[in-house]
Amino acid sequence: MALKGKNILVGVTGSIAAYKAAILVRCLVKEGASVRVVMTAAAKEFITPLTMATLAKNPIYVEFFNPENGDWHSHVSLGEWADCFVIAPATANTLAKMAYGIADNLLLTTYLSARCPVMVAPAMDLDMYSHPTTGENLAKLASVGVAIVEPEEGELASGLSGKGRMAEPEYITEQISKLLDGAEKKTLNGRRFIVTAGATIEPIDPVRYITNHSTGKMGYAIAEELASRGAEVTLISGRTALPTPKGVERVDVLSAEEMYEAVKARWEGCDGGVMCAAVADYTPAEVSPVKVKKSEGDMAIRLRRTPDIAASLGAVKGDRLLIGFALETDHEEENAQGKLERKNFDLVVLNSLRDKGAGFGGDTNKVTFVTRDGMESFPLEQKSDVARRIAAFADSFFKKF
Ligand code: PMT
Repeated sequence: MALKGKNILVGVTGSIAAYKAAILVRCLVKEGASVRVVMTAAAKEFITPLTMATLAKNPIYVEFFNPENGDWHSHVSLGEWADCFVIAPATANTLAKMAYGIADNLLLTTYLSARCPVMVAPAMDLDMYSHPTTGENLAKLASVGVAIVEPEEGELASGLSGKGRMAEPEYITEQISKLLDGAEKKTLNGRRFIVTAGATIEPIDPVRYITNHSTGKMGYAIAEELASRGAEVTLISGRTALPTPKGVERVDVLSAEEMYEAVKARWEGCDGGVMCAAVADYTPAEVSPVKVKKSEGDMAIRLRRTPDIAASLGAVKGDRLLIGFALETDHEEENAQGKLERKNFDLVVLNSLRDKGAGFGGDTNKVTFVTRDGMESFPLEQKSDVARRIAAFADSFFKKF
């Protein structure tokens, strides 16, 4: 199944079939998906948020904010997070509101702002389902790309028998998997990107070198995410132990100078660049052809500046997208803003070594997006999730043009 590692947002509305939403959440979690649940107020009458939260392993969203502490539940963030939004059960009322863009609860505002594939599993009495208005609403939703999992025939809560029972959770799970398989977000189809990743290596002699702690994980995750959205990606990589991401062309380099040449040769014809590599700012001015022998006393190595790869792209950027990183240990925001201007980035992804779990090596990062419009900080999350945020930024950048 295509659900492993996917973010599935389950919407639950007020129907007796809400109990099946609990089983759906369990099926999705079992398949390795991360699940969040948004419920309408009416849904809470049929199944408790506690049940849903326990099964989803995440808190439930009902209101726009938590009345206890004012914590804002952003429908935009929920929609951005999701790879698929499935509303099961979907009542006639919710389907009608979706069809007409009514946004009077968190579930509906999330639907209107979601960029991911959306699926509905209707559940209602047979006469409501066969009513022409419901049919028209479903046809309208289908015409804007909403996937519909038809209800089944059988005994209904009213005691009547007919078509209107929500499809079984196992079947809906299969349909979500198929939907994701077929409708991977190809939002960057036809776009060409350069991504730099990993550490550069600056030789002192044939034995020793200067480098840093970058493993390439962050940059590789970005390359993979961009490629999964249909972009043609060339990954210019310093030394790493990572396998080449699927669908990505990889060019291996060692020094900052080599990385500069590789990037410069490919920038023309690209739509965007993501500069994630930890590039040495200095390299030994002379590289000894033989192993430097130790002698009495200290020694000094004279260093010279390396080319600033990102700044050189920024200088000839035009209307292309250029994203850079800032790895800081102090005065984070000020330094990131300086880099935004000096290197002519559209976005600086700031990560600080003062944040536990951020930066080099691990699978997580904690970043702040710094743009000319302001700053937005995100929680500690998987590098793959940071990569998605960056790809989503690229999506919206190209939508502007
Ligand atoms: O690889 P991982 O272990 O997953 O770690 C990820 C990371 C910490 C390396 C990554 O998240 C990160 O922060 N990368 C940028 C590291 C860095 O060199 O930052 P900087 O603030 O020194 O550089 C600013 C920007 O200019 C960066 O986009 C950098 O790629 C670029 N640069 C810097 C120097 C140079 N000579 N040429 C450049 O292009």
